[in-house]
Amino acid sequence: MIRGKHFSNLCYEELQPHFLNSHLLLTHSATGALEIIAHALDIKNGDEVILPSFTFVSTVNAFASRGATPVFIDIEPDRLNLDIDLVERAITSKTRAIIAVHYAGHSCDLNRLKKICEKHSLVLIEDAAMSFGNTFEGKQLGGIADFGVISFDVTKHISAVQGGLLIVNNEKYKIRTNNIYHIGTNRSDFTKGIVPYYEWVDVGSKYQMNELNAAFLYDQLKIKDDIIQKRKTISKSYFSGLKSLSELEHFLMMNESLIDSNIHEFYLVVKSEEDRHKLSAFLNEKGIESMFHYIPLHSATKGKEIGRFIGSNETQKASERLLRLPMHNELTEDEVEYIIQTIRTYYES
Ligand SMILES: Cc1ncc(COP(=O)(O)O)c(C=O)c1O
Repeated sequence: MIRGKHFSNLCYEELQPHFLNSHLLLTHSATGALEIIAHALDIKNGDEVILPSFTFVSTVNAFASRGATPVFIDIEPDRLNLDIDLVERAITSKTRAIIAVHYAGHSCDLNRLKKICEKHSLVLIEDAAMSFGNTFEGKQLGGIADFGVISFDVTKHISAVQGGLLIVNNEKYKIRTNNIYHIGTNRSDFTKGIVPYYEWVDVGSKYQMNELNAAFLYDQLKIKDDIIQKRKTISKSYFSGLKSLSELEHFLMMNESLIDSNIHEFYLVVKSEEDRHKLSAFLNEKGIESMFHYIPLHSATKGKEIGRFIGSNETQKASERLLRLPMHNELTEDEVEYIIQTIRTYYES
């Protein structure tokens, strides 16, 4: 019999082994999961949060919408993650949290960040939106800091069409996040039989993943290893097919050690914005869609109005030069070869 939360429960069974003692809540999006975190931390006017400028707007909105000042940090050029050398310079008496975004699913150095957070009594949050299937020291990303979020949006490699996961690792926040998630009620105590009925105990909202999305996600979770394996194979083909062009310094490629990961995306960093524009237009003419990625938050309209920035121009450079090649679960070997040959033609002619 299919009961109310049948598919969500099946998803929890699939996901829990990746997170051991963490408390998991399936949400309608990673955006929603970030909002629950900001709420649970009582983020308010005057608080500051530290995050990389090279990220999606959801990372900052959850905190800015509660009045926090975003302090944007530049990225390091290797993995395009926040530059940890700059983080301590950004900390003030108002800082409440650091949000570490694992860009393209590739981990930040969480040991260093944890040490900084312990020293300054800050909360560490992992925006692992792109990281399902990737680890840091053997642990699934999102399951290591105080909180983590993962996205199961249609743009992600494992998808619920639309969906997300909140991972609560710090025991201290488990009850509060539960109540916020359940529209401000103690419904989860009721479900466990701890109370005879549930009632309004906090302010919350409706963050749950719906059962249609959970049904879709469950199917994807069952074949997640095949999906990830396929993406690894594609990225290895891209890597070996484009290596010689990268050696000729036409562009930088993702570090070879990053190929053996969940492969949320495969990107090149070309020499200039103009070069990216030309290459992208050439690929487009040949029927190949390639995409840029984030526009720096610190120089965006809202970022300039309410935030501040620490660093130089690495975020700007990545934003202008990064090009994502096609990467999806339906891509065939022939198509990958065609994309490689088209890029070779562009640079060799
Ligand atoms: C780094 C990052 N955080 C959060 C999100 C938001 O995820 P969702 O679409 O599930 O709300 C995204 C979406 O692409 C993202 O890239």
